Amino acid sequence: DHSATVRNGVPAALADSDFLRACRGEPVRRTPVWFMRQAGRSLPEYREARRGVPMLESCFRPDLATEITLQPVRRHGVDAAVFFSDIVVPLKALGIELDIKPGVGPVIEKPVRTRADLDRLVPLDPGMVAPIAEAVRLTVAELGGTPLIGFAGAPFTLASYLVEGGPSRTYENTKAMMYGAPELWRELMERIAGIAAVFLNVQIEAGASAVQLFDSWAGALSPRDYRELVLPASRSVFEAVAATGVPRIHFGVGTGELLRLMSEAGADVVGVDWRVPLDEASRRIGGGKPLQGNLDSTVLFAGDEVVREHARRVLDDAAGLPGHIFNLGHGVMPNTDPEALTRLVAYVHEQTER
Ligand code: CP3
Repeated sequence: DHSATVRNGVPAALADSDFLRACRGEPVRRTPVWFMRQAGRSLPEYREARRGVPMLESCFRPDLATEITLQPVRRHGVDAAVFFSDIVVPLKALGIELDIKPGVGPVIEKPVRTRADLDRLVPLDPGMVAPIAEAVRLTVAELGGTPLIGFAGAPFTLASYLVEGGPSRTYENTKAMMYGAPELWRELMERIAGIAAVFLNVQIEAGASAVQLFDSWAGALSPRDYRELVLPASRSVFEAVAATGVPRIHFGVGTGELLRLMSEAGADVVGVDWRVPLDEASRRIGGGKPLQGNLDSTVLFAGDEVVREHARRVLDDAAGLPGHIFNLGHGVMPNTDPEALTRLVAYVHEQTER
């Protein structure tokens, strides 16, 4: 419907949503809320939809990915949907042998350790992720005025799975390559950056109104290592989507010492984990940008009164920011009571109603 469109072909209701307004640092009607890992995990209707379907298979079934993306929007009344997928989906689409093991995470059959192993990381052709584009289109059509956030794994976090072969606490193989074979590392980072950039652009072209780059495990790095060995690749991902004009969110865990660098990599909005209060996070990035975060996910197990007290603190910390998107400091934990999340959304909305 062309009469209802404004800039970049975005429908007016969407462009005017509190979530996108907050991303642009504009005044909002009330503070927008969404939760990382809101799709799946804690929802019984998710477990029902997924019954008998392996995680990665569900990501490549547009009807299923759409339904699961919509579930938390219907249930909680959040201000944005996050697309149901996974950071390893583009790697799977390239034909890399991998699986997502319940309770474990992504496991890569043959880890990437040598130059010859790089041959498997060919550029991602958009046609390889056609079911993802289809799922995004279906989801956006169903969502109406609620924005959809697309996402990708950042080069370091994806590299950590590829090089370790699975989740890790120490990243010893990843760091051994980073320090011991810097040329190989740089080539690996460039290839992953190219893949992540195509994956994001596919989602944007199909209608995603914002994107988040997850560098979940970047907190394992010193600022110097991050700046020299990781930031250039993440920056190239952000630059590759800059022309679309969609807001770009950058998030990692344990990244208190990296916030300024992660902001400089090209984020329009910086995601903050629960360890750094939002006012302090804003000082660390030099101010001027909207922030997303940062209620400790475990607070949701402590009862409504505690949830409200901690949520109120997050809102107070955010009071002086140019924009705030309320979120958790990391993802929703699997045992979270979904109703506690619904009540939290209502509380943030009620507290911030202008
Ligand atoms: O946020 C959402 O609700 C959208 C969907 C989403 C998933 N993964 C679905 C998923 C998103 C945004 C991700 C991103 C992701 N995947 C990240 C970055 C975000 C973060 O949490 O830091 C990372 C590091 C991964 C890799 C991955 N995939 C992990 C660590 C796990 C969890 C393993 C476990 O079960 O504890 C997965 C599996 C996964 N991804 C599930 C879901 C819903 C669970 C699958 C299941 O239901 O069995």
